[in-house]
Amino acid sequence: MLSTTKIFPILKMKKEHKPERVNITVAGKPVQASVGQTIVHALWAEGMASEVATGCVGGVCGACTVSVRYADGKKGGTELACLHPVEEDMQVYPFPVDPLPTKPPVADPDATKLRQAYPTLDRCTKCESCTYACPMDIPVMDSVLRMQKGELEQVAQDFTTCIHCGLCRAVCEDKVEPHQMGMWVRRSLGQSLPNLTLEAAGQALADLEWDHLMTGTMEERLQRAREFRVTGSLK
Ligand code: SF4
Ligand code: SF4
Ligand code: FES
Repeated sequence: MLSTTKIFPILKMKKEHKPERVNITVAGKPVQASVGQTIVHALWAEGMASEVATGCVGGVCGACTVSVRYADGKKGGTELACLHPVEEDMQVYPFPVDPLPTKPPVADPDATKLRQAYPTLDRCTKCESCTYACPMDIPVMDSVLRMQKGELEQVAQDFTTCIHCGLCRAVCEDKVEPHQMGMWVRRSLGQSLPNLTLEAAGQALADLEWDHLMTGTMEERLQRAREFRVTGSLK
């Protein structure tokens, strides 16, 4: 007698392609997930969306911060739940970081003005926790040391990809607030340049820049951001 999978090969195909399941916990609650899902998508599929806050679900807004541990002792860390894939025995703990009020930017910033705005700058004990916590691979501690030396152009470049998730602040026992200072530096340098409004740039130029954003490589985008910061103009 013929087996059902010989008569209906699609049945066999479907069986073979069934996604592999893994077991994770989120805030101590068991969740069955499929290999390839992110933590956020696994929660959505199980009707548990409220367990982790979300915004963009694209690694941009920093709303979905979590701490990840593994039952077998494998090294975990801080992650964005909308980007991080599930793994067997993963233990996920929501780790929301409250936003802080920002300090107003100033024209022609330097290390002295930065210290006035953020006296926490010199508290850094070089523990490097902020660098390990950053989901965007920003060299946060090195950049704090650059801030102390007044190398602000480089600091602005370091924080180009900062999504302001706040994880570097949350893990800093010395309350240095690196991301706040990085944002302050970027805004202050921007404020020091003339003609930075969209009106001044002109809509046509803004449209052209949008095209560059959509089609350029990451390195090209960073290079354009660098040039814009230094020259204040878009070419
Ligand atoms: S976590 Fe804080 S103290 Fe440690 S390196 Fe970063 S800024 Fe410095
Ligand atoms: S520098 Fe801090 S706030 Fe910015 S992405 Fe990294 S951890 Fe998040
Ligand atoms: S939801 Fe925006 S970074 Fe994850």
